[in-house]
Amino acid sequence: MSEIVLEVKNLTKQVQGGKKIVDEVNFQMKKGEILGLLGPNGAGKTTTIRMIVGLIKKTSGSVSINGKDLDENGQACKSDIGAIVENPTFYDYMSGYKNLQQYGRMAKERMTDERIREVVELVKLEDAIKDKVKKYSLGMKQRLGVAQAILHRPALLILDEPTNGLDPKGIRELRNYLRKLADEGISTLVSSHLLTEMQLMCDRVVIMEQGKVIDVSDISSLDNDNITDKLMVLLHVKKGQGQSSAEVIQRLESVNLVKREKENEFLLEMDYDQIPIMNREFVQSKIDVYGIESKRTSLEEKFLQLTSTEGKQLQKEAR
Ligand SMILES: Nc1ncnc2c1ncn2[C@@H]1O[C@H](COP(=O)(O)OP(=O)(O)OP(=O)(O)O)[C@@H](O)[C@H]1O
Ligand SMILES: [Mg+2]
Repeated sequence: MSEIVLEVKNLTKQVQGGKKIVDEVNFQMKKGEILGLLGPNGAGKTTTIRMIVGLIKKTSGSVSINGKDLDENGQACKSDIGAIVENPTFYDYMSGYKNLQQYGRMAKERMTDERIREVVELVKLEDAIKDKVKKYSLGMKQRLGVAQAILHRPALLILDEPTNGLDPKGIRELRNYLRKLADEGISTLVSSHLLTEMQLMCDRVVIMEQGKVIDVSDISSLDNDNITDKLMVLLHVKKGQGQSSAEVIQRLESVNLVKREKENEFLLEMDYDQIPIMNREFVQSKIDVYGIESKRTSLEEKFLQLTSTEGKQLQKEAR
């Protein structure tokens, strides 16, 4: 049985004027899982996170952490969470180590030096921990922020757009230590609008758009999709034959139109063994095929397929 660390049920935030900027959001997180909250700017990721950490009031719905309801047991819930939502503030003139000590003093339970060393090691800040924070790069400050957030051994770490401003190396390192934390049983919720990043970092992603969850995807199952049945195919036909091609595609039940890239280019979703069947149809319809290129069913395509109005419209038309 897998433990549920976070459960968000019908979480809603309605703002003045009646607009629901977070609208009936549901998802769960298991122990040791890295879950991505993925969506374009304005999707409602930060608002969702702020409600979970109790920074802003929710309009309705519920949040429970380790089985405890946030409304009934706020204090206990807060001690189970470590979060960086806004940029963490540090004392610039003090060392990273002193900052952590200071933070530990403010927390209820005393932090041992051993625990501080442990978290510093986890985020790989050993070499710089005695330096003053004002000398830190953005990536180092962020690590210090994570170190601070996990100092009290929370079950759940929440990071809003943690890769913002990090270079590729910084992003890779963040990924590595989040995985290390996951191995130790700490679950992490990260938000981002970058798909490939989420794909590399997370076990699962919750895709949000305009306040709503539009899909929850298992990264591993997405990867399996590439190898097994459905794959994305880019079809390229002779210019001017787009319309007749669209008709052929519509006729083929097992071929799904995802997006019409150009007049004569289509992004399709289909089974591998449907490729020659489709090709035969084109030949019989006297359509010149210039290319059938199979592509990865990446999260990115899935995301596009789900969020682009064009994609949705075309799918509807194709049905
Ligand atoms: N207090 C508020 N009143 C009205 N609208 C708000 C309020 N707070 C946020 N919004 C709007 O709600 C939407 C969601 O905002 P939110 O910051 O949660 O999105 P986000 O997914 O975090 O976006 P980003 O990727 O830009 O960080 C935005 O359109 C924002 O302008
Ligand atoms: Mg945000």
